[in-house]
Amino acid sequence: MSLFRVSTRNKQAIRETHDVPRHIAIIMDGNGRWAKRRLMPRVAGHRKGVEALRGVIRACGERGVTHLTVFAFSSENWRRPQDEVTLLMELFLRALENEVARLHENDIRFRVIGDLSGFSERIQALIRDAEMLTRNNTRLTFTVAANYGGRWDIVQAVKKLMAEGVTPEEISETALAQHFSMADMPEPDLFIRTGGEQRISNFLLWQLAYTELYFTDSLWPDFDADALDAAIASYRTRERRFGRTSEQVRAAS
Ligand code: IPE
Ligand code: IPE
Ligand code: MG
Repeated sequence: MSLFRVSTRNKQAIRETHDVPRHIAIIMDGNGRWAKRRLMPRVAGHRKGVEALRGVIRACGERGVTHLTVFAFSSENWRRPQDEVTLLMELFLRALENEVARLHENDIRFRVIGDLSGFSERIQALIRDAEMLTRNNTRLTFTVAANYGGRWDIVQAVKKLMAEGVTPEEISETALAQHFSMADMPEPDLFIRTGGEQRISNFLLWQLAYTELYFTDSLWPDFDADALDAAIASYRTRERRFGRTSEQVRAAS
């Protein structure tokens, strides 16, 4: 079953105008509050959140976004009540079992970044299989950050560099960046956080240096294609200067 309504031919046309961010990174926040407002258990919000994610993956594919990275579980989320952590792990397991085939059919590459050793053997095996199955897909790279922390990512990159025996002189931004979990992907153009909080919560730290930030009060289970379009519309109004002046940017374009 195809997730997408438009052909890939449209993608090129959209991309050339730079209207569409290549890479969108999302903190999917507000599931618990969504459920609480409906007097439902928090896990009902997480379940609804998986549905919302399905819609956003489809919408990104239709709009020609080539990389979507979502924060599903932070290295700090283990601090939550044991019941909630257990239910989140079950949901992650079910999603891996049920959704990967559809991602593959839709030419979506699936990746997980984070410290996978924190997960059960079963989850780790499903992740490995899904990454292997979808490794040659090119339409959209969909990355889930799970047991991920931006600080963890920087530390593990430094550890890898040091294990290679590099000298202080050899350490550079480029050398370090090659060891991050998302080394092979473009840095996010647009960052979205739902749920009303205006913070990064230890998501991508290094990679967000020049990303356009967008915060919305929408709770994640309510975030749909229209909400995504509103975020992209906001992105289009931004002038990305990367340190230069507005005049320089306009002269170059
Ligand atoms: C985000 O929703 C999902 C995870 C962190 C796993 P929350 O569960 O943080 O929802 P709120 O912030 O309590 O509403
Ligand atoms: C950030 O949300 C992590 C995820 C969405 C997975 P949190 O709800 O855990 O963030 P804080 O605790 O409000 O900063
Ligand atoms: Mg939250």
